[in-house]
Amino acid sequence: MTVRSWSFRIATLIVLVFVFGAAKAETSDVETTWRLLDYIAVDYAGAVSQGQVSSPAEYAEQNEFAATVAEKLKALPAKPERQALLTEAGRLQQAIGQKAEPEQVAGIAHQLAAALLAAYPVPLAPKKVPDLARGAALYGQNCAGCHGEAGDGRGPDAAKLDPPPVAFTEAERGRQRSVFALYQVVTQGLDGTAMASFEALPPDDRWALAFYAGRFAFPG
Ligand code: HEC
Repeated sequence: MTVRSWSFRIATLIVLVFVFGAAKAETSDVETTWRLLDYIAVDYAGAVSQGQVSSPAEYAEQNEFAATVAEKLKALPAKPERQALLTEAGRLQQAIGQKAEPEQVAGIAHQLAAALLAAYPVPLAPKKVPDLARGAALYGQNCAGCHGEAGDGRGPDAAKLDPPPVAFTEAERGRQRSVFALYQVVTQGLDGTAMASFEALPPDDRWALAFYAGRFAFPG
């Protein structure tokens, strides 16, 4: 997937940062950085193959994401662990710059994401087991119009959208997306696309939706 208007999203985030103050800023910066790393791990394979750029647009985006990761890490409150994170972020930028193999880039991105959470913990899991029946009901009301009742991205409103809604049924993509990443998108939306933020829903409902959407890739 291509994430559009990233700079707009960063701008929005910066505004939010000033509105909600430092604690919230740190949490959302960590979450955003984590999500960028997750995108790199999943989408880099669509940018480079066998040492060659296969999609210049995707490749430019991967470089941009990696640069943003480094900037955001630099801006986090100082901690002894931060230097190691910055070193890894540099390695990630270098690997992408050298058009390294997707497995290598995904490996660095995943490790860095895990190290980030270890150093700057943010709540990454629901407080209780998500209610899938509630998820199904909310999905029918709020999501099926675009993503389709069956999660195939073919809801009645999908045809007119550019970019089109994601098909949750794609097994390959689904396997790579964590539920937390889905939760993040449901919470923050994707600026420059039709995907809105559902932050108005309580966290438990957003988790229920993330789990429900995540299940489409795993029939049975
Ligand atoms: C108005 C149409 C629309 C509605 C309603 C909508 N979405 Fe989306 N959604 C999109 C589009 C378009 C994208 C893809 C954006 C892109 O390609 O960057 C998307 C992307 C996503 C993604 C990212 C998936 C990935 O693999 O990166 C998730 C998760 C998601 N939507 C969940 C939901 C959930 C849950 C709901 C209901 C609460 C919902 N969406 C409602 C249009 C919609």
